[in-house]
Amino acid sequence: MGHLHQHAAAAADRYTPRPMPRRRPRATSIPPAPRPLRGLAAKADRHDLYQRAVQNFESEADFVQDTFRALRKRPARIIREDFCGTFGVACEWARRHKDNVAAGLDIDPEPVAWGRKRNLSALSPAQQARVHPVMGNVLNPPRLANLAPRGFDAVLAMNFSYWCFKQRDVMLRYYRQVHKSLARDGVFFLDACGGADCIRICKENRPIGRRNSRGFYTYIWDHAAYDPISGDITCKIHFRMRDGSTIRDAFTYDWRFWSLPEIGEILADAGFRKSTIYWEGDDGKGGGNGDFTPAARGDCVDSFICYIVAEK
Ligand SMILES: C[S@@+](CC[C@H](N)C(=O)[O-])C[C@H]1O[C@@H](n2cnc3c(N)ncnc32)[C@H](O)[C@@H]1O
Repeated sequence: MGHLHQHAAAAADRYTPRPMPRRRPRATSIPPAPRPLRGLAAKADRHDLYQRAVQNFESEADFVQDTFRALRKRPARIIREDFCGTFGVACEWARRHKDNVAAGLDIDPEPVAWGRKRNLSALSPAQQARVHPVMGNVLNPPRLANLAPRGFDAVLAMNFSYWCFKQRDVMLRYYRQVHKSLARDGVFFLDACGGADCIRICKENRPIGRRNSRGFYTYIWDHAAYDPISGDITCKIHFRMRDGSTIRDAFTYDWRFWSLPEIGEILADAGFRKSTIYWEGDDGKGGGNGDFTPAARGDCVDSFICYIVAEK
């Protein structure tokens, strides 16, 4: 999800030595959810909890805006947010400049409807007119020539959503579609995570909000399964509310774990002239500082987040 949850996780976990797990992972410590949900969990809105825990629309839009300008010496104006869910980045994009236009593309009407109600409605009418949530499959995206006659300046695939494509040829097909959708000098922005924690059964608990405040809850990122033969990973998000009630499996992701060189090779095969890893700087305390810069080499850490910037 940029999985700012991951960015934060990376910040907290980097350089922290962890013992290797035994052969069999221990059973999860989260008790099975009572059905139906009870207490505060029954009243909570999982998209709202997700957005507050995971997403930082501003920093993602900042990265796209600043990096595009640095590479192309012009501002990016027309973007497409793939796997957009509640299309918060698209809304943020339209909010920050009167000439900015954003399409959001998702296959599932449910998060898109939520995004209309909660994210789009928070914008002014003029801003709303420049946001276009579209239902569709990123493998066969609508042309949207009326929005982007010369193609999109940038296409975004954030929070590792594209890891739902498990076969190399399907991933290649997706990257080719993005390449085709971009303007001549368009840029494709992706994020990725990595490090030993990605192929380990482990959980990260992160408190959200001020302890004892009404809005307080715990976000739980659960690396629930990894198959070393297929490379498949299952990741889940649970929420524990301040009264102890839990939304277990609020979100479940069935992904393949892709390494950075694999992604780079497929991007090249799809026709991208150049792809660059933007690696997070060090905060001096063993964590990341939120500042991502081009890098040829990374650090061997337990957990990292990076951006991949692919130029057409
Ligand atoms: C992990 S969520 C990401 C939401 C949001 N981009 C974020 O950063 O948090 C993945 C989204 O991808 C959508 N999705 C999955 N496969 C898709 C496909 N082939 N085409 C378009 N959207 C897809 C799902 O419906 C879901 O909303």
